[in-house]
Amino acid sequence: MRLFCFFWIVKRILFVCLGNICRSPLAEELFREKVKRLGKLDEFEIDSCGTESYHVGEMADPRTREVATENGMNVQHHARQISAHDFQKYDLLLAMDKLILEEMRQFAPLHQLMDKVFLMRQFDTKGSTSQRVPDPYMGSIQDFREVYRILDRCTDGLLDYCLQMK
Ligand code: 4NP
Repeated sequence: MRLFCFFWIVKRILFVCLGNICRSPLAEELFREKVKRLGKLDEFEIDSCGTESYHVGEMADPRTREVATENGMNVQHHARQISAHDFQKYDLLLAMDKLILEEMRQFAPLHQLMDKVFLMRQFDTKGSTSQRVPDPYMGSIQDFREVYRILDRCTDGLLDYCLQMK
């Protein structure tokens, strides 16, 4: 539910991946940085989570934090699992791939709330044919850098979309 605060509207954005230690915390921080640069942090609530509980409470993967640092950011997020409440609280939920989107269904308290869920790649400014932000967990630091480049474009597209949201 969008929160009306006297003169402005708070847009609530949630990034969702599997473990909440690689892709979604990086997306969360990239998006927060862009919102911050626009001086609009008070207009957004931004968070991330995972569909699985494997890493709950853990800091982001060291490679996620390394890539963030390379790009002047600091990822401080601790992993958490998605809950039914997230579907009520957030306006937009961004799934990193179709499998995650399908997994999210079991957490949605009402199936209509899945209307708030979008694939992250839909916002890729490069107009990618792939629908996935690839899972870099079993990969190398280069895979994390590629995920960063994809998320950088997708968060640009998402921010444009959010700025047009009523
Ligand atoms: P993420 O990556 O979903 O982008 O956080 C993964 C993290 C952990 C695992 C898989 C993917 N895992 O199997 O533990």
